[in-house]
Amino acid sequence: MIEFKNISKHYQLKGQTIRALDQINLKIPAGSIFGIIGYSGAGKSTLIRLINLLERPDQGQVMINQTDFTALDARSLRQERTNIGMIFQHFNLLQTKTVAANIEMPLKLLGIHKAEREKRLNELLDFIDLKHKKDAFPDELSGGQKQRVGIARALANHPKILLCDEATSALDPQTTKSVLALLKKINQEQGITIVMVTHEMDVIETVCDYVAVMEQGQVIETGSTLDIFSQPKHPTTKNFIQTVLQQQLPVSILKNLENQNRHSIYCLQFLGKSAQETVVQAVIKQFDISLNILFANMTEINGTVIGQMFIQLLGDPATIQQAIDFLQQSGVQVEHSEHQV
Ligand SMILES: Nc1ncnc2c1ncn2[C@@H]1O[C@H](COP(=O)(O)OP(=O)(O)OP(=O)(O)O)[C@@H](O)[C@H]1O
Ligand SMILES: [Mg+2]
Repeated sequence: MIEFKNISKHYQLKGQTIRALDQINLKIPAGSIFGIIGYSGAGKSTLIRLINLLERPDQGQVMINQTDFTALDARSLRQERTNIGMIFQHFNLLQTKTVAANIEMPLKLLGIHKAEREKRLNELLDFIDLKHKKDAFPDELSGGQKQRVGIARALANHPKILLCDEATSALDPQTTKSVLALLKKINQEQGITIVMVTHEMDVIETVCDYVAVMEQGQVIETGSTLDIFSQPKHPTTKNFIQTVLQQQLPVSILKNLENQNRHSIYCLQFLGKSAQETVVQAVIKQFDISLNILFANMTEINGTVIGQMFIQLLGDPATIQQAIDFLQQSGVQVEHSEHQV
């Protein structure tokens, strides 16, 4: 478990104080993939760099498995750091060294001798599926290949924690998918805790078990990815979710509705695949109102389906209210959708 206890961090820049982190309290469970999301300047990089103390907090403690990292002497810190690997947005590979030399570098620095290094190198090249590029130089690789080399280098010394700062932000969507799949595999097969900083909600949706949303140096919301997606509370969280889950009716559909009917639109949110049709069928059967399905979509998070449906309810207002009550009692989230064009 990684724990931030009341962490604050300021920078001085041109006579101004920048509050990069403001009283952060956060727990990252061991063995999880934990996402940290926020807009530019929110403090994400500062926070992740505190885990291996590339940055020092002004106040507070960073605890890893009950060890207070902020209290370690230089020697112990060097030792502990060997359990933490890191990958970066721009890969940070040594351009003048081959793939093999880049991956071996941390082992060389630790004084591990050649035979053992070679053995580990071959395991890692196998794992990232780049054996054929062993002697290539970084600028002869694609972005995805470079990041795989970065991952192999980070894993060389069998770390327990892997830190990723925007590790897929420089990659196209398809390559992003394959790098995320590799990270998931590392987490599942080797039990490595992965902390992942990103500004893309679909990265969180695809691989993270938990997420913390940051804004202006603070954690404004945190929880399991499913909880955050199904019940976001903070407006910023809602904005991020909006980028992967449609929370507004598409304009093309809205345009086709007559003006007077726009106030009768509701957004339903379902958890679980099976519920959706049954509940909607029941409303149509039991209540004397008309129900039009305008738009529906689904997404899956950690094996649970979140379904969304925009419907239009027309008829007697009291009966509509009864239908809404019925939906809510059936566990469906119902929101009146305010639409203007
Ligand atoms: N070395 C530094 N000196 C001065 N200010 C800094 C320094 N590093 C970060 N900051 C400031 O601290 C705040 C948080 O920065 P940080 O890099 O942690 O944000 P971020 O969420 O990672 O942003 P991005 O998504 O753009 O990478 C910002 O206002 C930034 O300008
Ligand atoms: Mg950053």
